[in-house]
Amino acid sequence: MMWTSALFFLVLLYFASALTPLKKQFKTAKKTHKIEVDGVKGFEGCPYDNDFYYTGVITSPYYPNNYPNNDHCYYWLSASYGNVLRFNFTHFDLETCCDYVVIYDGYGEASPILAQFGGKNATAAKPSGLLYSANRYALMEFITDPVVTKTGFRLEYDSVATVTPCNRDIILVINGLSSVGTQANFVKQLQFIANNLVAGWDVSTTNKVRVAINLQVDQDYAVVYDTVQFPDTKTLQATILGLTDDVPDVTQNNGSDFESLFRYGDGDLQQTFLLRQGISTVVIIFVAQNPNNDQDYYEATDFAHAMRDQSDVKVITIAMGTGIDVTKVGRLSYGQGFYFGADYSQLATLATPVNKAICQTEAAICGP
Ligand SMILES: *[C@@H]1O[C@H](CO)[C@@H](O)[C@H](O)[C@H]1NC(C)=O
Ligand SMILES: *[C@@H]1O[C@H](CO)[C@@H](O)[C@H](O)[C@H]1NC(C)=O
Ligand SMILES: *[C@@H]1O[C@H](CO)[C@@H](O)[C@H](O)[C@H]1NC(C)=O
Repeated sequence: MMWTSALFFLVLLYFASALTPLKKQFKTAKKTHKIEVDGVKGFEGCPYDNDFYYTGVITSPYYPNNYPNNDHCYYWLSASYGNVLRFNFTHFDLETCCDYVVIYDGYGEASPILAQFGGKNATAAKPSGLLYSANRYALMEFITDPVVTKTGFRLEYDSVATVTPCNRDIILVINGLSSVGTQANFVKQLQFIANNLVAGWDVSTTNKVRVAINLQVDQDYAVVYDTVQFPDTKTLQATILGLTDDVPDVTQNNGSDFESLFRYGDGDLQQTFLLRQGISTVVIIFVAQNPNNDQDYYEATDFAHAMRDQSDVKVITIAMGTGIDVTKVGRLSYGQGFYFGADYSQLATLATPVNKAICQTEAAICGP
């Protein structure tokens, strides 16, 4: 019951705060491309093997000679793990009205359109400067009409991680439960996160580090900020430091429940937040107590397993304060190198190792 109402609340929050921009993004993801010429579009001169990995060059059919009319090529691109794609068109010469290149930001035509050069509803007549995908994958199509041909395009693409600490979708499960102990401790937690941990992150809503916040203020109540609410690092930092508005006195909150932190990091978040394809999800959980009892611990384990094993989420646990069994709590993390502990005044020392863990892709050993 409580759990259901919590979910409902989460969903409400989500709709209230974040849906508008997300919805917009999905709306542009339409199936297009009518099949023409008696139901058949040519694939003339298109690459037979059209999977393109990591780095390379793609050219239009017969480049630098003219491309054919009535053509339709597909190019499936993948960046190397954890990276996004960078597109550099070094030549672009199309019949602007009616021949076009469209790039989908993700795996297939159901993904949002990153760019369309030429044709109806073009985002631009032609490329200028570099273009970055938000996901690891992209689909590019080249479509021509029955008349007028030109020299086409030449595209250089590669895999980049120009981002600190690295391209990740990160969910911060921040602890606003009374088990934090004092409001001063709560503020130290926020200061560590804002001033030390995320200070060096390149945050954006698109192709950099994307961050969502899940402030746990009761066992059945979380204040949620979606990734779309953090267009840059400064906004993220200011929001974190302002979380005292939601928790003016941490000692008034219900701190008796350990597993709720892990529950909120699990599956429902996967559906609530717009996570990217092929980009690792990292959930950082700030823990302020030992589990109450075995049941509490096993429940937390269930959620941690679902995150780790089903979704391959990198769970990082940060045990705050003294007297916490860092290793036991760490068993719920992604494994060795993914769990930490320090007293509130020493949290800053964890920023560097936590950033390293965020970029790590696999645990040496899963489970300490
Ligand atoms: C993009 O292509 C142009 C033209 O070849 C080249 O001068 C430039 O260095 C390229 N940029 C990147 C980032 O690769
Ligand atoms: C262009 O956009 C309009 C309005 O969104 C839409 O109705 C139309 O189907 C689009 N045309 C193509 C070719 O995608
Ligand atoms: C606090 O949590 C316990 C369960 O751990 C629950 O029984 C109790 O009703 C909660 N108190 C409030 C005020 O929500």
